[in-house]
Amino acid sequence: MPKIRINGIDFEFEKGTTLLEAAKFLGIEIPTLCYNEGLSPYGACRLCIVEISYANNPNNSKIVSSCTYPVEDNLIVRTHSQRVMRTRRLLLEMYLATCPQSKIIQDLASKWEVTQCRFRNIRYDDCIYCGLCVRMCKEQMDGKAISFVQRGYKRKITTPFDKKSETCRLCGGCIYICPACQARCQGPNEKEPICNACVAENPPCLEAWEDMKCYMDPCAWCEQEKREKIRNEKVKNINK
Ligand code: FES
Repeated sequence: MPKIRINGIDFEFEKGTTLLEAAKFLGIEIPTLCYNEGLSPYGACRLCIVEISYANNPNNSKIVSSCTYPVEDNLIVRTHSQRVMRTRRLLLEMYLATCPQSKIIQDLASKWEVTQCRFRNIRYDDCIYCGLCVRMCKEQMDGKAISFVQRGYKRKITTPFDKKSETCRLCGGCIYICPACQARCQGPNEKEPICNACVAENPPCLEAWEDMKCYMDPCAWCEQEKREKIRNEKVKNINK
């Protein structure tokens, strides 16, 4: 079994274990954005970076993404070195500039003490190209309804030929897992019926799939209806 030193702790791990899994096992927290335990690692967001070197050449270090890098014998891993923290915070600033409305990104930035965003070009994009939705659709829902197309600035996630996919079952998995989606789904709300409010509200992520169902919690539409009901009842009581 490969033996590594991670933040000064020597430990042996099964072959094939990733550095992220090893760190998690030892209770070391590493931020992630494009990683999900139920999906294959993709290495897109780079937030999980760590600094590695080898015992026989400790001064020659490099930065790698821990969610895709497997443990190797004699590896020295630093998860919170100055170099790592500087890069991680810069990445979070970039994500904040791309997608400032995302609650997940805001929470990560706050947790990792990012106190400013130095980028002037704030974009309010609805995609950070983490590929979670594509993997969710393919690996968990067996849909393969969406994928990346094009390259560079034209890159986007869509259905084949931008047409309505025959294999999409409107499960909402892609919206549920999206970290950038403005009206982020939280999973089915047991107390409330499914309301399809996302369709009525038309958040930007639904442009391409206008008949998609969404299980939002809290649902802005229901909340608004509830508020109106309460207000009408109060008005009624006052007029009695
Ligand atoms: S979590 Fe590892 S690259 Fe995104």
